[in-house]
Amino acid sequence: MSGSRRPLAKVGVLLSGRGSNFVALQEAMLAGEVPAEIVLVASNLPSAAGLAKARDYGLPTLGLSHRGMSRQEHEEKLIAALRAAGVGWVCLAGYMRLLSPRFVQAFPQRVLNIHPSLLPSFPGLDAQQQAWDHGVRVSGCTVHLVDEGLDSGPIVVQRVVAIDDARHPDEVAARILAEEHLAYPAALRYLLMQSWRLEGRRVVASSPEAVSKKPEKKP
Ligand code: GAR
Repeated sequence: MSGSRRPLAKVGVLLSGRGSNFVALQEAMLAGEVPAEIVLVASNLPSAAGLAKARDYGLPTLGLSHRGMSRQEHEEKLIAALRAAGVGWVCLAGYMRLLSPRFVQAFPQRVLNIHPSLLPSFPGLDAQQQAWDHGVRVSGCTVHLVDEGLDSGPIVVQRVVAIDDARHPDEVAARILAEEHLAYPAALRYLLMQSWRLEGRRVVASSPEAVSKKPEKKP
């Protein structure tokens, strides 16, 4: 055991729905698989099921409706709350509102999103239905850094899902969701466990040995 412990990264989660990706992240952190802790879970929908799940974990939550506010006003309040909580990384986990450049620039290269398709295919809403309608044989999920476009930032992790024998778009969504729950913790772990940089659109590990230091079993 090494005596020096890596400090835990402080993560803020934004969600709008049931929050299963938030739960996957939280469970991975509790299991010590990701060196981070969630310090705030916020939603633009105060009744989001994901917020109730966060309260069940005893995590600080913020329900901040966007109704009756300009996008800018809403985002300024979100940014202030995230900063007050000491957030260094923001994970979008089914947050169904577009973020302005101002928000992205408030946490440069530290906002992550998960999307239920193999980007750049099927950005935007209902990605699983888009994949079904298009008749693709494989789809999957993508965790990416958020830039100022729609689902367009540099890709960190993708997982592929065969859907050629799926019988309904709901089955496609369920298969992809199971992979999302693996991909999101893996992506955050990847970014936190080593230094990395962007080369154009590519996320490149600067010191890959940092993640391969587990003792190897001798045959
Ligand atoms: C997930 O499938 C996520 O990929 C998707 O919303 C769902 C949220 O589920 N996000 C997007 O489509 C963003 N463009 P969850 O609330 O159970 O995590």
